[in-house]
Order: sequence, then C-alpha cells, then structure tokens
Amino acid sequence: MEPVNIGLLGLGTVGGGTVTVLTRNAAEIARRAGRGIRIAHAAARQYDPERISGLDSIGRIGDDAFAVVDDPDVAIVVELIGGYSPARELVLRAIANGKHVVTANKALIALHGNEIFAAAQEQGVVVAFEAAVAGGIPIIKALREGLAANHIEWIAGIINGTGNFILTEMRDKGRDFADVLAEAQALGYAEADPTFDVEGIDAAHKLTILGSLAFGIPLQFERTFTEGISRIEAQDVAYAAELGYRIKHLGIARRTPDGIELRVHPTLIPHRRLIANVDGVMNAVLVKGDAVGPTLYYGAGAGALPTASAVVADIVDVVRALTTDPHNRVPHLAFQPTELADTPVLPMADVETAYYLRLTALDRPGVMARIAGILGEEGISIEAIKQKEPAAGETHVPLIMLTHRVREARMDRALTRIGELDAVAGHIMRIRMETLAG
Ligand code: HSE
Repeated sequence: MEPVNIGLLGLGTVGGGTVTVLTRNAAEIARRAGRGIRIAHAAARQYDPERISGLDSIGRIGDDAFAVVDDPDVAIVVELIGGYSPARELVLRAIANGKHVVTANKALIALHGNEIFAAAQEQGVVVAFEAAVAGGIPIIKALREGLAANHIEWIAGIINGTGNFILTEMRDKGRDFADVLAEAQALGYAEADPTFDVEGIDAAHKLTILGSLAFGIPLQFERTFTEGISRIEAQDVAYAAELGYRIKHLGIARRTPDGIELRVHPTLIPHRRLIANVDGVMNAVLVKGDAVGPTLYYGAGAGALPTASAVVADIVDVVRALTTDPHNRVPHLAFQPTELADTPVLPMADVETAYYLRLTALDRPGVMARIAGILGEEGISIEAIKQKEPAAGETHVPLIMLTHRVREARMDRALTRIGELDAVAGHIMRIRMETLAG
C-alpha cells in the first residue's frame, strides 16, 4: 500500500522532534499503522537544519503553511505552529479541504475547539490533539478510551512542566525564580510567552480540555479559574513543608452536585501523595473514576521527543481510522457530540476547598482570639495554627493556619474582615489545600 502523505506545519522544537521520530522509528511505526507515513510537504518560516535529524526524508519544504493545507497530495495536516492565529485559520481550512488534522496546540483547542470539532464533524474528518495536554503522557487516550466505563469524579494534574520545574528548584536549591525560568526557556520547555507558564494560562488551556473530556461538557476556557505561582514565597514553601505539605501548581477539575469546578492554582498537598513527589519538568495527572478508583499518569510534559511521541501516536491513530466510518470513530470530546451536557462550571466563589493562611499579626494577647473569632463567625473551622517566634525587635509575628473545607465566598469575607483588624499588617497569603484522597 502507498504511504500516507503528511503535511507538516512548523519545524520548531516539536516539529523537529516529529521529523526525528517519524524517520527514526519509520519501520516500526509502519508495522503499527499498516502503512508507511511520509512527510510530503512541510512549511516553516525558519528552522535550524543542523538540529533536525531526518530532514532529508521530507518531500518538499517551503515557507507557505497555506500551500501545505491546500496541497491535494496531503491527507493529514500536522499543525505544530502553536498560538491562536494563523493556526485556527489553517486548521479550519485543512478541515474544509477534507483533510484530517493532528495538533499539539492546547491554546487553539481550549479556545476554538468547539468550532473546530463542529467543522470536523461536518466534514467527517478527525482532529487529534493528544500532544496538547501533558506532552508525552497519553492522558487524552486514557480519558477518552481507557476510562470510558467510569463516572469521572475528579482530576488533579501537574500539567505545566516549566511551573513545576521552577517550584522544585526553588524548594530544593533555593534558586531564584528568574534564573530557573531562563533555564526552562533554554531547554525548550517554556511557552513563547513564559507568563503563560507562570501565571497558569498554559495549565488552564490543558485543564479546560481535560474537564471537557472527563465530564462531557463543551470547552469553556473563559470559565476556568486561573492563578499563577508568581506570588509564592520561599517562606510558604518552608512552612508548608513543616506542616507536612508540598506546594504544587495544580489543575483541578471536579464534579460536584452543584456543577463543575475548573481551577488552576498553587495547592498544598500532603507530601506523602505520589503526585506531591513529581518534580522538575515532569507532569502527572491523577484521575479518580468511580469504578477504577484513583489512577496516576506520569511522564514528560514537554520537550521535543516526548511531545513528538504523542503527535506521532495521533498520526498513527488517524492513519488507522482513514477507512473507518466517520460516525464510528472515538468522539473528539469523548462523549458523542449530541450528548454534551450543559452542566454549569462553578464560579470560584462557590468552590469548596481547605486553606493555608499566612498573616502577619501583632504579638499581643487577644489577637489570635479575634482572628479565630472572625473565622468562627464565618463558619470556618481551623485545623492547625502555628505561630512563629518574633524576630529580634519585631512586634509582629507570622501566623500560619490551616482550615477545613469551606466555600471560597466565606473565606473571602473572613479575609476582608481579618485584613481590616489593626493588629494585622500587610497582605494575607492564602493558598488552597487539597488532600487528594482516593
Ligand atoms: N510550556 C509547557 C510546559 C510546554 O512547560 O509544560 C508543554 O505544553
């Protein structure tokens, strides 16, 4: 049988990795797919030929991405440019031309996935996006296929390698935030705009996708709560450790009787949890299904070859599906498109979680009672309190508290009232806390 012709958009980190994997493992990939896979036409504005092995296997390399999606010889377009535009226009045009699409573009899927999947459905083509979430970890396949029997209860994931690398290096080596970020950029892990990593936007793109796959709801990036790691201080990392916790930047999707939580924020988790020990650039996703219980998926969430591993697996899947009836393929968002639910995504004020609080209070009798009183009046139960020694000559002391679970709106009210006390100085640090118990 003739090889399948691929059109490749982008020869950067992931594009280069994809060329390498497709050529290096060509024979084995063909044995799996049932046909050879050939990059017939690639487009890149710029690339470094020295850094890409297998480049000479590509039929033709140009700089016009639209020429690739319009090329009648191309059956599958692999979009590895990233960003919203022109990726959206290219993918929609490829679909309109009747081509299947493989993409690693989480921003594109999180923001424009509903439109893209509707267009693909209409044309009877596949849009595959395994590489969009957690790089080389086959988490989309696991959610869509491996866990299809389950009522998914919650997901908690470390889904941004750069953020995890920064938190790990800060904790283990006391390194400076900017210095670690620069290293992640040099290693090709960070986004083109690294604020996407540290402010949680990249993780929110990925969580939006995971939430839709888990709960069968349309993609709703605009409703995903996002808080980054840039406010985390070394003292919080140290206090969390003293209390038996680690701070991780988690994406959490949870089903509750009132709606669905979609939230990305720094989170204290018990240090004994496996996921609390996922360090460096590695990603991990913990999925709790009602039948299977908790399951954990771990691996490289970024980088050329791990991401290419997911891209090429998608290409193989699409090649296998070329001759199948479009109505009998795995649905894009795991649930049949007509079966997506309108379950509301909860505003953060309605989310219930436990909290770590750090405030700076006057070291005087009655202050702690006043603070505890306000928490009690708002229905917030305290789990632990730690007061540190005042530094020499200091009148104020750091006060660390852990609370039981409470609705965020109540905590907001309590923190406003506590912040207004004369005895409390400066900003109150609040970090959400989860036990992630199976
Ligand atoms: N910037 C992302 C990360 C790359 O650090 O995880 C993979 O999406």
